[in-house]
Amino acid sequence: QEQVGEIRHDRSGISFRPGLEGVPVTQSAICDIDGMQGRLAYRGYPIAELSAHSSFLETTYLLIWGDLPSPQQLRDFEAEVQMHRRVSFRVRDMMKCFPASGHPMDALQSSAASLGLFYSRRAIDDPKYVYNAVVRLIAKIPTMVAAFKLIRKGQDPIQPRDDLAYSANFLYMLTEREPDPLAARVLDRCLILHAEHSLNASTFSARVTASTLTDPYAVVASAVGTLAGPLHGGANEDVLAMLEEIGSPEHAGDYLDEAIASKRKVMGFGHREYRVKDPRAVILQGLAEELFARFGTDEMYDVAKALEAAAATRLGPKGIYPNVDFYSGLVYRKLGIPRDLFTPVFAISRVAGWLAHWREQLGANRIFRPSQIYTGAQNRTWIPSDERV
Ligand code: ACO
Repeated sequence: QEQVGEIRHDRSGISFRPGLEGVPVTQSAICDIDGMQGRLAYRGYPIAELSAHSSFLETTYLLIWGDLPSPQQLRDFEAEVQMHRRVSFRVRDMMKCFPASGHPMDALQSSAASLGLFYSRRAIDDPKYVYNAVVRLIAKIPTMVAAFKLIRKGQDPIQPRDDLAYSANFLYMLTEREPDPLAARVLDRCLILHAEHSLNASTFSARVTASTLTDPYAVVASAVGTLAGPLHGGANEDVLAMLEEIGSPEHAGDYLDEAIASKRKVMGFGHREYRVKDPRAVILQGLAEELFARFGTDEMYDVAKALEAAAATRLGPKGIYPNVDFYSGLVYRKLGIPRDLFTPVFAISRVAGWLAHWREQLGANRIFRPSQIYTGAQNRTWIPSDERV
């Protein structure tokens, strides 16, 4: 580690940038972020407009194929997705062998990868194969997330309901009740907000995997594994735990001081791209308030607001503000989503972005193979084991 700090470039003289910060590794027409102004747009459409007017499936179509669908294209896409929501009994039976204590992100990663066993691998240059793979992944991932929730309790999964739209059906499979239309619309808007965010860690992982020309199920599975970490999608689980640990708004300032003094990250704050409040956090906070007005408040919301206010003076000057994960947990909890499914719900949405990047990567592919700075030993001689000390 110390040596990495000393040697700053590789053998061709290229500088080392930890975390690839500021290093462009691809060209992309999918998502534009202005981190200083707090602007985010998918395919040129501002996120606030999409989340107010679009649906998750329409936004998915836009992300993956570049333009908003015509009414007929959208109807066809929605119908195809609806038709492919069910998962094979073999996948469900495989999930029954997973330990009930396992994290749902691990279950999702394994079950997403298993889809590659069912559908042919070698046709990624065939537009029909691409369309079908997109449809299957968008359709089946929510079913697999909901299935594991029940399977781990020893129950049979609930089959999707054809009369319910995408997000309403997911909430139905999860909560075993037909959801309130407001709850379904709020979830749909959350899915739009989380669908894409340029080259975050999981999307980069998806592009690296895609660049080997493997199948899209492996691409999505590798991205799911990357999203699972607490510095990425896993942060929204930790935010609620942190708010509960703080307990009441009066303790927010002390918690923050202590975290900063001990160099502990405050979960749900900070972003590599944004120096202002994440525009998605602004919209999610509004969605949380809509839900609280309708279904009753969450006392942790007051703690969250107090923490945000305290952080404005302590972290704000460093450009550290709430990110997308800060308010999403409060929204998901109000929707009846269990805490360890928050990140799988993120994955349901982000699969749209991953697939958009998969297609874009294949359109101008070159396998990713960065360089490194070797910091290890040189010219050592092997020693027989009985001569080693
Ligand atoms: N709390 C306190 N300080 C922070 C935070 C935070 N949440 N985030 C960054 N900082 C500080 C760091 O301590 C560091 O300070 P220093 O320069 O004095 O050492 C500085 O800001 C830069 O921090 P890095 O970790 O280098 O920033 P990076 O761009 O690598 O990390 C990240 C971004 C991972 C999001 C970081 O802000 C973080 O860990 N946040 C908490 C976890 C989180 O909420 N993740 C979800 C991100 S959104 C998403 O992935 C969907």
